[in-house]
Amino acid sequence: MFGRLFFFFLIYTLHNIIADDIRYPAIFIPGDGGSQIWARLNRTLPPPHWFCSRHSDWFELWLDVRLLSPEVIDCLVDNMRLLYNETTKKTSNLEGVDIQIPGFGNTSTVEYFDASGFSYSAYFAQIIKSLVTLGYTRGVNLRGAPYDFRRGVDEQDEFFDNFTKLVTDTYELNNQTPVVIVTHSMGGPFALYWLHKQTAAFKAKYIRSMVNIAAPWGGAIKALRLMISGDNIDVYVVSPYRVRPYQRSAPSTAFVMPNINFWDKDEVVVVSGQRNYTVNDYEVLFNDIQFPTGYQYWLNNKDLVDESRAPEVELHELYGSQMPTPGVLLYDNRTFPDLQPVVLPDNGDGTVNIRSLLGFKKWESKQKQDIHSLEIPGVEHLAILRHPTTINYIAQVLTGQFDKK
Ligand SMILES: *[C@@H]1O[C@H](CO)[C@@H](O)[C@H](O)[C@H]1NC(C)=O
Ligand SMILES: *[C@@H]1O[C@H](CO)[C@@H](O)[C@H](O)[C@H]1NC(C)=O
Ligand SMILES: *[C@@H]1O[C@H](CO)[C@@H](O)[C@H](O)[C@H]1NC(C)=O
Ligand SMILES: *[C@@H]1O[C@H](CO)[C@@H](O)[C@H](O)[C@H]1NC(C)=O
Ligand SMILES: *[C@@H]1O[C@H](CO)[C@@H](O)[C@H](O)[C@H]1NC(C)=O
Ligand SMILES: *[C@@H]1O[C@H](CO)[C@@H](O)[C@H](O)[C@H]1NC(C)=O
Repeated sequence: MFGRLFFFFLIYTLHNIIADDIRYPAIFIPGDGGSQIWARLNRTLPPPHWFCSRHSDWFELWLDVRLLSPEVIDCLVDNMRLLYNETTKKTSNLEGVDIQIPGFGNTSTVEYFDASGFSYSAYFAQIIKSLVTLGYTRGVNLRGAPYDFRRGVDEQDEFFDNFTKLVTDTYELNNQTPVVIVTHSMGGPFALYWLHKQTAAFKAKYIRSMVNIAAPWGGAIKALRLMISGDNIDVYVVSPYRVRPYQRSAPSTAFVMPNINFWDKDEVVVVSGQRNYTVNDYEVLFNDIQFPTGYQYWLNNKDLVDESRAPEVELHELYGSQMPTPGVLLYDNRTFPDLQPVVLPDNGDGTVNIRSLLGFKKWESKQKQDIHSLEIPGVEHLAILRHPTTINYIAQVLTGQFDKK
């Protein structure tokens, strides 16, 4: 009932926009977990259970909800897991696991987490559907840039080359109209990394603005929980301990760990039965949880994006707040590191701490392009994507209504 009222409200407000022309094309960059991953198996290593496939044709690895039953999740986790090479400092798939990220350039694989398209697995779906209602067309002026979210920005050269081409192609395809980049969560820092590599002339020509939804500019305490004891996958309830091998093996988890410039040097973020850890104690922490590779990951990732350097494009920052968000992780001798901690809450959107969501404020004195922001209290990290305020805001930016304000 409540949902239906919202729906009418939405149609009503969108209806008022329809009078305007479609103005700017949009490219969507998802966050961690927001791209689909297909796999093809011809494994040499034995899988964790007899019932896990060793050989297969292409299938949906991430995400197929049927794979999320308690035992079968081990097969998924083992195929998602990356191996680290200490010499090259790069990761690879397990031998005999081929991976592809389907749908680059279109939105179909970033609309839902699960290819079944069930409404509970909606990702950018509601935003994109609303824009289609306004006359927008998937694959023409609504494009998607899915990527292998397991990896950090230093292992994405091909993706970023493809992304540059997608931006220029989309510009040409739409009568040389500059594009609006729309990101969610980790997609924000990914876009920032790419923007830092573009010239001012390129940005002025091809980028109208960037809309960042719930971007973790300074990381999130939650990533430490993934590293220490694992975390369930946002949308689904699964055993944290069982998904931990994948979460630990993904450099992107280190990429979003709390940034030392956003937490005080004596601020305790993790407590165990034996000691307290601040953001300056990562080396000891990873040794104590017997996962020293995690520290290597952090070293490899911590300086890849200079979050203090402005993107130098017009920005729109949308974020939720006043939701209980992991602030301090309290373990004891029994729970550290394999069981879940008691969590002291911080302000934030449930996933990202508020100080990190507000990281864009550092740029206010550093770029001449406008920075607009909108805090939406009480709205959670994923739920913000289907909130009418967000949908309406994006419609206003894309139709050019926002420019007239
Ligand atoms: C699977 O891998 C084996 C080697 O481990 C190889 O001989 C075989 O041709 C591969 N099968 C396919 C279908 O690629
Ligand atoms: C790591 O990479 C180096 C250089 O490419 C290679 O020689 C070495 O065999 C790799 N190590 C493992 C364990 O795969
Ligand atoms: C994009 O995907 C939609 C369906 O989601 C399809 O109708 C359209 O043809 C695709 N466009 C391109 C350019 O691939
Ligand atoms: C880049 O684009 C090519 C051609 O469309 C595609 O085959 C490849 O998978 C893409 N790679 C990435 C990492 O997006
Ligand atoms: C945890 O164990 C260590 C040594 O095993 C002990 O020194 C410490 O007091 C314990 N902590 C608590 C809170 O019981
Ligand atoms: C950890 O910090 C708390 C206060 O935050 C303090 O009471 C406790 O003594 C500290 N524990 C250790 C082992 O330093």
